[in-house]
Amino acid sequence: DWIMGDYIAEAVERIREQVGDEEVILGLSGGVDSSVAAALIHRAIGDQLTCVFVDHGLLRLNEGQMVMDMFAGRLHARVIHVDAADQFLGHLKGVSDPEAKRKIIGREFVEVFKAEAAKLKAGDGGHKGATFLAQGTIYPDVIESGGAKSKKATTIKSHHNVGGLPEQLGLKLLEPLRELFKDEVRELGVALGLPRDMVYRHPFPGPGLGVRILGEIHAEYADLLRRADAIFIEELRATIDPQTGKSWYDLTSQAFAVFLPVKSVGVMGDGRTYEWVVALRAVQTQDFMTAHWAELPHSLLGRVSNRIINEVRGINRVVYDISGKPPATIEWE
Ligand code: XMP
Repeated sequence: DWIMGDYIAEAVERIREQVGDEEVILGLSGGVDSSVAAALIHRAIGDQLTCVFVDHGLLRLNEGQMVMDMFAGRLHARVIHVDAADQFLGHLKGVSDPEAKRKIIGREFVEVFKAEAAKLKAGDGGHKGATFLAQGTIYPDVIESGGAKSKKATTIKSHHNVGGLPEQLGLKLLEPLRELFKDEVRELGVALGLPRDMVYRHPFPGPGLGVRILGEIHAEYADLLRRADAIFIEELRATIDPQTGKSWYDLTSQAFAVFLPVKSVGVMGDGRTYEWVVALRAVQTQDFMTAHWAELPHSLLGRVSNRIINEVRGINRVVYDISGKPPATIEWE
């Protein structure tokens, strides 16, 4: 709309002024904030921006393809797709502690990103090399990191937000969303032409499926989980609540499947199966500090369960998580 159009023009002007003829590198995750930051910066400086998309092998189904289609395909942005799945899964081998897994994923992410930034510095393809690191930091992140020390005495889960990366890389920071709340970031994203589905996505944790596969991670588990999760999300999007006219995806704040490394007995045709279990989690919350489990329609749960068991060979049982936060957290790890 009119006001947003003005805002974009101003933001574009500010970015051009700050960057001049230098170059910018941005870590694209597929999440709302980094996507909107990328779209805005690309609008301002085009090919002076290079996005780096790191696939750690623990992303959702088709995530890499979707990000590449959107940013490289539709927006014609420079995007480097790094397939680092083997590197991440290699380092995670034999590790089952949730915090240890988070630390490894965070550390490897920094390593991969640094290596890509160094390559760009070498200046291939006539590029001068990046002097700016762009991040999709939004206003609530600014407040949280400023007040975190006094507010929180204990950390329950160490969220890996690539902290300290600009210093390590010797890059200047570019954070064009610093003054915006989440709702404003979403409006901006839509105004920049990003699809609504992308801009109104549920949050997805940095360590990805790494904290949704309980205990030790195996590529095979990630594969099964991705397919189960995609079925759940597809059905949530497709099922409209008649009372509100909204989809159950929009009526929930976060929803996903969790892989349980537990085998149970089932029966298929004349045979006995002995296969894995997945749990479905769907919550409603304002601030993610407390949350209610979502009272999804039984018919929806039934459809999801049938589809997962029929379509994902290797899973023969689906359960629904009915735990509130507190005492349970939203993620299982
Ligand atoms: P919990 O499980 O603590 O989750 O109730 C609250 C919110 O935080 C997200 N979460 C993470 N996000 N790195 C992230 O970037 C993490 O390590 C992490 N752990 C939890 C979770 O998805 C939920 O939205």
